[in-house]
Amino acid sequence: MNQSQITIQAIKQAKKDQRKLVMITAYDYPFGLMADEAGVDIVLVGDSLGMVVMGLDGTVKVTMEHMIHHIKAVVRGCKRPLVVGDMPFMSYNTSVRDAIINAGRLMKEGGCDVVKLEGGTDFAPIVAGIVKAGIPVQGHVGLTPQTASALGGFKMQGKDAQAAKRIVDDARALEDAGVFSMILEAVPAPLGKIVSEAVSVPVIGIGAGSDVDGQVLVTHDMIGLFDKFTPKFVKQYTQIRPTIIDAMKAYKEEVVKKSFPAPEHSFSMPEQALEELKKMIQD
Ligand code: KIV
Repeated sequence: MNQSQITIQAIKQAKKDQRKLVMITAYDYPFGLMADEAGVDIVLVGDSLGMVVMGLDGTVKVTMEHMIHHIKAVVRGCKRPLVVGDMPFMSYNTSVRDAIINAGRLMKEGGCDVVKLEGGTDFAPIVAGIVKAGIPVQGHVGLTPQTASALGGFKMQGKDAQAAKRIVDDARALEDAGVFSMILEAVPAPLGKIVSEAVSVPVIGIGAGSDVDGQVLVTHDMIGLFDKFTPKFVKQYTQIRPTIIDAMKAYKEEVVKKSFPAPEHSFSMPEQALEELKKMIQD
């Protein structure tokens, strides 16, 4: 581990110091490098890659092999941030043993520092098993995209008092199971504050308001690279997609017009070698 790399202790300390944590997703080497250069604390190789990179309609079909492939690339670009590997659907849901084996694979084969998995109270024994095996775990409660269909779709969670109380219970159960932090997704802002105050580990929000201990966004949403669906809680800091399409169009036009490649983009050949070659071809 690089000396200056963000540690789990530093993540936990941030909450005590009331310093907001900054987390973002990345799925490949260039985005890992950029996240590192931007100075974020945590980089998540999320199974959201199923949607924003692979063009799937959800995260359910993402496999361990997909995750390992993408984690490896991101890790090569990230020197300072803590890299979180997301556990794909059914890689941890079947048993504590399966969960430990697969969490171990993400770390050993992928090279991530910690793993993340979705689920609250029901998954506390799984989390406890992985933590006991020596693998740090980040939890994920509120809207859990892998089981979104069971939750009624990609909708805000914790709308009424009972549902909100279940989310607080989930967060407490994860803390007791040993998570070092947790994601809280798509809940009313006041509930975000309540959950953050209910546990001692950092609560990193995505659509959970500003009174949590940090924020995470899917990079491809935040830079306007993925335009199929933009949740309410996303702020687009740039619109990169039209810029890329414009560049591709300009390239296409220049190739068709024969103005690209220009001499400055071409390699030259000594005159004598060229003449010799022409003769050799004629003979
Ligand atoms: O997979 C992912 O990118 C996530 C974020 C939405 C937190 O889980």
